[in-house]
Amino acid sequence: AADCFAGGRLTGRHVLITAGPTREDIDPVRYISNHSSGKMGFALAEAAAEAGARVTLVSGPVHLPTPDRVERIDVISARDMLAACEAALPCDILIAAAAVADYRPQAVAPQKLKKSPDSDDGLILQLVRNPDILATLAQRADRPFSVGFAAETENLREYALRKLKTKNLDLIVANDVATPGIGFNSEENAVSVIDRAQRETRFARTGKGKIARQLIAFIADRFDQA
Ligand code: CTP
Ligand code: CA
Repeated sequence: AADCFAGGRLTGRHVLITAGPTREDIDPVRYISNHSSGKMGFALAEAAAEAGARVTLVSGPVHLPTPDRVERIDVISARDMLAACEAALPCDILIAAAAVADYRPQAVAPQKLKKSPDSDDGLILQLVRNPDILATLAQRADRPFSVGFAAETENLREYALRKLKTKNLDLIVANDVATPGIGFNSEENAVSVIDRAQRETRFARTGKGKIARQLIAFIADRFDQA
């Protein structure tokens, strides 16, 4: 069963995990980010280490302790996260649990932005696309076994499948982030994992620690079969 957790099954493997939000500076005192807590990525890092893997956890700004036997690299922006991941290669398995900011301000203002003293105008911020960390790593010639998360508020299966294909993934974890109490910034989660054959495996709602151990056991199975 998915939750009977065999210790040692990732011994000798290097697992790279991204976690948490990224933060994109607007000026010296302001940034764009999101509500990701990092809990799912940290729970996956802990479970992978328990399974015997060498684990590198590349984390955006979060308030979580580092799990035992996990090497943690703290980053701020999406571009930093990509560079830290590339520096951590090679890895056998990549699990991208980070909520990467899709856009960043085109330029970081060198001084704190000031409101105009003589108008009530709004502010237009020019944003540019950030690199896709998961797609970049999963499309390399030496690509790891690649697992993504699809955080969706609607059309979960369709959008998750699209991400599986366009990012060249082995597995995608479809994560409903619209239902209160699960997913984003919550203690619990409930997910489906979809493979390249479009087969879907459901993991019922439970704490993120338990879901993480189930997911790591499932990923280890599929990695062995790949
Ligand atoms: N991801 C990433 N780098 C990005 C954006 C996303 O590595 N710049 C990864 C996430 O960690 C996740 C997967 O890609 O594993 C899907 O992220 P998600 O935000 O759901 O999808 P996007 O591809 O960004 O598409 P959209 O936000 O438009 O749904
Ligand atoms: Ca996104």
